[in-house]
Amino acid sequence: MNCEYFGKCASCTLYNKTYKEQLEYKINIEKTRFKDFLPSNFEVYESEEQNFRYKAEFRLWKSFTNDNKLKLSYAMIDFDKKALEINTCHIVSLDIKELMPKLLACILEDDILSFKLYGCEFLNSTKGETILTLIYHKKLDAKWIEKTKDLELKLNIKIVGRSKKQKLVLSDDYINEVLSINNKDIKYIYKENAFSQANTKVNIKMIEWIINNATLSNDLCELYCGSGNFTIALSPYFRKVLATEISKTSIQTAKINCELNAITNIKFARLSSQEFAQAYSKERKFRRLEDINVDISSYDFSSILVDPPRIGLDNETIQFIEHFEQIIYISCNTLSLYENLLSLSKNYNIKHFAFFDQFAYTKHIETIIILEKKAKK
Ligand SMILES: C[S@@+](CC[C@H](N)C(=O)[O-])C[C@H]1O[C@@H](n2cnc3c(N)ncnc32)[C@H](O)[C@@H]1O
Repeated sequence: MNCEYFGKCASCTLYNKTYKEQLEYKINIEKTRFKDFLPSNFEVYESEEQNFRYKAEFRLWKSFTNDNKLKLSYAMIDFDKKALEINTCHIVSLDIKELMPKLLACILEDDILSFKLYGCEFLNSTKGETILTLIYHKKLDAKWIEKTKDLELKLNIKIVGRSKKQKLVLSDDYINEVLSINNKDIKYIYKENAFSQANTKVNIKMIEWIINNATLSNDLCELYCGSGNFTIALSPYFRKVLATEISKTSIQTAKINCELNAITNIKFARLSSQEFAQAYSKERKFRRLEDINVDISSYDFSSILVDPPRIGLDNETIQFIEHFEQIIYISCNTLSLYENLLSLSKNYNIKHFAFFDQFAYTKHIETIIILEKKAKK
């Protein structure tokens, strides 16, 4: 991929290399980091070389031309942390890339839309639905709604307006997605402003890899389940699933995703990983579990799946997940994963290990490890 902003835009930090070279560079770093843990048969899954991000956020940058006309461009941060005006981006999905100049042209010709607008976020599905969030430094009023409704129709997208303490949803605040997982279509909605995996094609490879490599039996426990990205696809392979997550919006979305696929064997509970550990050990009772009729002792768990944020697992959560025979650990940060593995490897063997290039042209890589409890001596 060739990008005119390589070396200037700080979002792609591995820019002076081809796609294959940047991946090889990252994998070599991770091979050194995980030298004591990496099995010889570890796997690497590539991303598409461009147009792979189905989520993107930009600043909107205003300036004036020599003849004093307003000029609007997208902006990223450069390597000196200053704004960098850009006209296009090659890592975002084709839908987002094509929409970007059309949106600017529409906003530029309308004072109500452009006034005090300072940022935007795109969320796109592989089926062509897009939701756009416009972020302002002003209160959004009836005139703005009228103009934005026209813009929704003109661009055939959904729009959400945000400003301080204000969120205006014009039609919906979600998009529909269908992922083909091992040739089976699974339906999802992705909600504006909630977590979703940015690289959808790599996300499919991650879900398939878990199904194809993990031991799928008895009941599954999941922490950090988000909107059910892994939960929904894995649930047919387990008797029952209990999935937990801290975000109310994500739990509500996960329940809708369950209904969309007519799945009935999952319970979603809004609990932090630490709270669920306390509920599991009967240290604390939670109304949030009673209200959804969850009796933890009725589950026959043998596996736990965790997909924590960048910080990784805290000590309390590590102690808790050691109750399970199999741990499926998904990580977006190899630094915290390495730290967590130092503890987990005392009682667990690493059965499978794979890297997924979710974040091409950056130093980050997604990792999934399947661990199996060591036999007692
Ligand atoms: C990396 S995301 C993974 C979400 C989901 N597995 C997916 O693939 O879309 C991490 C999730 O952990 C949630 N989270 C953050 N801290 C948490 C905590 N202490 N306990 C439970 N969930 C937490 C976030 O709300 C977020 O949805």
